[in-house]
Amino acid sequence: MSSTQARIIGTGSYLPARIMTNAEFESRIDTSDAWIRERTGIEQRHVAAEGETTSDLALVAAQRALEAAGVGVSEVDLIVVGTTTPDIIFPSTACLLQHKLGAKDCPAFDVNAACTGFLYALSIAEKFVRTGAARTALVVGAETLTRMLDWNDRGTCVLFGDGAGAVVLRADSQLGVISTHIHADGQYQNLLYNPVGVSAGFKDEPNHGVRVMMSGNEVFRVAVRTLSRIVDETLAANQLSKDSIDWLVPHQANLRIISATAKHLDMPMDRVIVTVNKHGNTSSGSVPLALDHGIRSGLIKPGQLLLLEAFGGGFTWGSALVRL
Ligand code: UT7
Repeated sequence: MSSTQARIIGTGSYLPARIMTNAEFESRIDTSDAWIRERTGIEQRHVAAEGETTSDLALVAAQRALEAAGVGVSEVDLIVVGTTTPDIIFPSTACLLQHKLGAKDCPAFDVNAACTGFLYALSIAEKFVRTGAARTALVVGAETLTRMLDWNDRGTCVLFGDGAGAVVLRADSQLGVISTHIHADGQYQNLLYNPVGVSAGFKDEPNHGVRVMMSGNEVFRVAVRTLSRIVDETLAANQLSKDSIDWLVPHQANLRIISATAKHLDMPMDRVIVTVNKHGNTSSGSVPLALDHGIRSGLIKPGQLLLLEAFGGGFTWGSALVRL
């Protein structure tokens, strides 16, 4: 292969120290550990400490990815952060991360595609690298979703957690990120959203009305349908059959959604990376966290073929076919 490719040469992740178990919810709201496990697969989630921001999480994940890649900060010439929970409105979390890392001059920007943020970021960075606009890109998915939860809404507050994952993409002659596929359909905006914004205005409510609003059941049904479609699209675009994928690295929102996609691919669950039980739904953080977990635990081996996918508010959805 003579044209420039974009390879993932290092991954890293970070989870805040505090672990919140399902049992902690039982005394606060009308729920149970059994319900949460059975309906979502979640056992616990990590929660950022007061003052610990999305860029703090991103920083550790990025440093670990750079270390794994054996790449110095000065070599980074692009930073893209997928996040829907930026530290502040501006500057972007990517700019804050750039400064914390000690990087300089390179372009740095955020992508907000809700839970599909990392796949959008990867899709963009991969094109910078392939076209020669960047040689070494840092691609991050980082979130502090717990900051915008209504802790009295049992339909949402038990689902989400905080965390970050990162990959280093490097220009190479070998195939790496083989294809990326991203989509959106804004007609579903009211099924999963946060009603507060700058131009829509803040609200005279606790926490300014900042909270995740979700019609869980409807989101669930569209997610299952759409993720089946995106994995089919990815296989067809590469003329691959289902059995050529070594690992499914899915967005970690609900174990039942993950299982449905695996079933659609005829993949046994022992070829699917599952972290939702330990992390909850970390939105943009979820896929790179799962990828890093798969690699560092030794499950995913060099040279294997991975299918990454995600679905989130917007709706947005996306996938990537990656040769490690
Ligand atoms: O990452 C972005 C995309 N997000 C997702 O993919 C999330 C998609 N949705 C889901 O994962 C699921 O729909 C949920 C886990 C949110 C809900 O599971 P469900 O099986 O779809 O439940 P449901 O919404 O149909 O609700 C069933 C019942 C309701 O009670 P009634 O009306 O039948 O009496 C809910 O009020 O479960 C109730 N319920 C709960 N009960 C105990 C909802 N949340 C809880 C809870 N504990 N935490």
